[in-house]
Amino acid sequence: MSALSKIVVLGAGMVGGSLAQRLAESDLASEVVLIDIIDGLPQGKALDIQESAPILGFSTRVTGSTSLDAIAGADVVVETAGLARKPGMSRSDLLEKNAAIVKGHAEAVRAKAPKAVCIVVTNPVDVMTYYFREVSGFPPGRVFGESGTLDTARFRTFVADALHVAPRDVTGFVLGTHGDTMVPILSLTSVAGVPLTKLLPADKLEAIVKRTKGGGGEIVNLLKSGSAYYAPSASQFEMIQAVAQNEHRLLGVTGWVNGEFGEKGLYIGVPVVIGREGVERVMEVDLTPAEKTAFHASVEAVRADLAILAKMPH
Ligand code: LAC
Repeated sequence: MSALSKIVVLGAGMVGGSLAQRLAESDLASEVVLIDIIDGLPQGKALDIQESAPILGFSTRVTGSTSLDAIAGADVVVETAGLARKPGMSRSDLLEKNAAIVKGHAEAVRAKAPKAVCIVVTNPVDVMTYYFREVSGFPPGRVFGESGTLDTARFRTFVADALHVAPRDVTGFVLGTHGDTMVPILSLTSVAGVPLTKLLPADKLEAIVKRTKGGGGEIVNLLKSGSAYYAPSASQFEMIQAVAQNEHRLLGVTGWVNGEFGEKGLYIGVPVVIGREGVERVMEVDLTPAEKTAFHASVEAVRADLAILAKMPH
């Protein structure tokens, strides 16, 4: 028996398609639905994934649609739709165009899947998560965004590379915005419990922090058209699995803060516990003074984007 009956992935681009594949193969839900406005794209990708079932042995039914009616009855909705960055663009450059897309989708989710747990991936993700929550009217814990799980995966990869250890033995957090001012938290990163700061010299740590902050841009520059999707879809999968299996995972996500870390009234990357109902609580962890300062600077960057959103006609 699958844990969920239906997961809807909005947007059948590279992220949405790759996520639908991971979801189908995991049998987390009886049904995975891909939705996109480009006729043929969601249907084609869904059918292609479905035709791998006899070989891979999964039972998930995968379908594609251009109609937002297909959202009906979703337990989990993942918002991946929107434009991706091109080389030289910041995630904030996408704000206005993607806000219009997110608005229509959040309205449809509110009407057709009022109990869904929603995960927002569309950039700039801190702002799009805020907007999705606002339009949906859902409780803040039922809407959260992808940031930390992805940025932390990149950070862990680079640490594992530098130390020649298994990537999964590296744990830690990248908090703050999913943008240039994200904050890799060195003081809370360890390799199987051994503090990272005892394992690598300061200059190496600094280089890893820098590469992590530019991690999404590094892929954009390599691909030249489009942005990353394998690590993003893996990180989305990690969050969806935590919901589907009520795992109470402690993960860095774009979560609603209401006083935690001295901030309130916005979405930003924070450590949270995720279970079947979404974010159960924000876990306040101790940061060093420098990390706190960097976190608050990151919050200011999100507030600047929120001010742009507030001025937009909607
Ligand atoms: C990235 C995009 C998805 O970080 O924001 O790859």
